[in-house]
Amino acid sequence: MRLKYLPSFVKRRGRITKSQEENLNHLSSYEISAYSEILQAKKNFSKIVLEVGFGNGENTLSLARQNPDTLYIASEVYLAGIGLLLGEVVDGAIPNILITSGDIRLLIDDIKEPVFDDVIVICPDPWPKLKHHKRRMLTNEFFELIHPTIHDGGELFMSTDVENYAESIKEQLDISVGYERNNNSSYEKSALTKFQRRAMDEGRKIYPFSFKKIS
Ligand SMILES: C[S@@+](CC[C@H](N)C(=O)[O-])C[C@H]1O[C@@H](n2cnc3c(N)ncnc32)[C@H](O)[C@@H]1O
Repeated sequence: MRLKYLPSFVKRRGRITKSQEENLNHLSSYEISAYSEILQAKKNFSKIVLEVGFGNGENTLSLARQNPDTLYIASEVYLAGIGLLLGEVVDGAIPNILITSGDIRLLIDDIKEPVFDDVIVICPDPWPKLKHHKRRMLTNEFFELIHPTIHDGGELFMSTDVENYAESIKEQLDISVGYERNNNSSYEKSALTKFQRRAMDEGRKIYPFSFKKIS
């Protein structure tokens, strides 16, 4: 069967600890996998934010604690990361995080109208080799796919620690229709993720991008 999207992630399973494995038993109670389920969940919240590729969930967790009226749809395929975040959600009885565990592009594809107030993608997989650049998530195709799902004025916040990825994001967004630059993003000051911290420890720069959706 031909895949609709080239895989943009390296591994799904990886090494999982016993407690992460146990936490994954709770996934079905917190999982969202269809647009209709987002619509159902949204009734209890004033805003919805999607974080794509949350990794170990540091940023999602911090935002969810600060903004109890916002529902965070947390997307990740990496099971150890999902297990980690689920542990925090279950133990902390955090009501405003729901998890989606498949390739996020399939869910986005299912959404035909604006539903997200903001969308966040922090340090997507870098795919450094030239022959793998086609696997990068942040391309024109993604910007077009996500556009109809963001409310007018909503923010698309992204960052990468890879210079040539940053250049290609900039080039592709400059020619993408329906976005304008936003110089006032609150997400730049969000909690540091594992990959951001690693980049900083290794002396690498993080390149943030914030765009507003215009119709
Ligand atoms: C380099 S890691 C960064 C994780 C985290 N944002 C951080 O900064 O620590 C990128 C993450 O994106 C996830 N990812 C890649 N493609 C994805 C997709 N199509 N849908 C959902 N998650 C994806 C990967 O599994 C991986 O954990």
